[in-house]
Amino acid sequence: MNWNHLKALQFSDLPLDKEDRAILEELAVRLKDNYPYYAQEYAGQMIKPPHALAQAAHWMTSFVNPNNHALDGGRATSALELEVIEQLGTMVGYTPCLGHLTSGGTMANLEALWVGRQSIPKTTVLASSASHYTHSRMSEVLGMPFKEIPTDAEGRMDVEALEQLLAASEVPPIVVVTLGTTGLGKVDPLADVVALKEKYSFRIHVDAAYGGYFKLSQLPEETQQHFEAMPHADSIVIDPHKHGLQPYGCGSILLKNPAEGRFYKHDSPYTYFTSGELHLGEITLECSRPGTAAAALWATMKKFPLEKDGRFAKRLQESLLAAKGLHKRALEQGFWSLDPELDICIFSSKGTSSTEISIQNRAFFERKANEGIHLALLKVQREQWPWDLQWDSEELVVVRSVLMKPEHNDPAFWARLLD
Ligand SMILES: Cc1ncc(COP(=O)(O)O)c(C=O)c1O
Repeated sequence: MNWNHLKALQFSDLPLDKEDRAILEELAVRLKDNYPYYAQEYAGQMIKPPHALAQAAHWMTSFVNPNNHALDGGRATSALELEVIEQLGTMVGYTPCLGHLTSGGTMANLEALWVGRQSIPKTTVLASSASHYTHSRMSEVLGMPFKEIPTDAEGRMDVEALEQLLAASEVPPIVVVTLGTTGLGKVDPLADVVALKEKYSFRIHVDAAYGGYFKLSQLPEETQQHFEAMPHADSIVIDPHKHGLQPYGCGSILLKNPAEGRFYKHDSPYTYFTSGELHLGEITLECSRPGTAAAALWATMKKFPLEKDGRFAKRLQESLLAAKGLHKRALEQGFWSLDPELDICIFSSKGTSSTEISIQNRAFFERKANEGIHLALLKVQREQWPWDLQWDSEELVVVRSVLMKPEHNDPAFWARLLD
């Protein structure tokens, strides 16, 4: 799909009049004011094009316009949602699994922290300084105390610092463990955090909004073990609209203990008349939710089952190889580059001072954008950067590339990106 496809869409079966068609033509022109997210040349933010099958299923279902808030609003798509949640649950090792789709990772994480707070009143949220900012913000929304855990030199949660906080906690806290941090793509040591459960009492929430699907990948043992520890977490968030080939509006929350559905209990006199079963409206914080998201994800997972080494896993493997390949080439071409753990590659021009290097990196980013290659920038702190330089500014601006598409695994592309 590219911009020309947008104008070529005919919608011939829809009852559109001339005025409607003219407006759509105008919209197609307005939509050109975007980066080319669908193209190989877009390797900037965490944005991946949805699969055409997902788009088609989403659009097809929009004609029914089901609302998965309750069975009254979407019988078929509620059944599809339960199926996809079961499959996601099986992937992470939750059998059984209670969960549902959300509008995205932010809502799913909010819900996970809320369930944690319902299960342990007066609890505190502990998350690393590299965790997504949504955790501190949502703790504020929920009125829960939040404490930041420092990271180690590579950007993963410092487990010794966590242990000190656990030892000092009077009420069991919620520890947020990120499998795939947003900035550097690092995997927090979940297996080590789980091991601390022998000494301390606490709840584990895994934010795998971006990294969760890498559970299916072939990773080095030191990373793989942390994905293998997922069944020990109390809740997990995975976003199908990141690596799962879905249009935006598709996150998910998975709970290990189905009995936690009781926290959602409410007594609505108007919505639920058609079934005596526990339905999705009784285990969600959001009320209206699009059945289109469930249908699109279900269709995609029919084609790409969540199997280790299956065709979906192979696509993810390409992304991992792309990040490693770009990293290796960056080093060969005289850049600094951090060894990628997942599919995010960080690199920087070499230089003497943080101000000067940041200026060079910004100029590189602009030059590439003018050549039609779209990257991102990231601010890193002194402790995250292993090379010697003169720190005359608080942060160093480096180049960040998220290589989410199989087409990114292409040496010719890495050469264009770095030259
Ligand atoms: C680790 C992590 N958690 C949460 C989020 C927030 O997800 P969303 O943008 O879908 O609300 C992101 C987004 O990048 C993320 O990377």
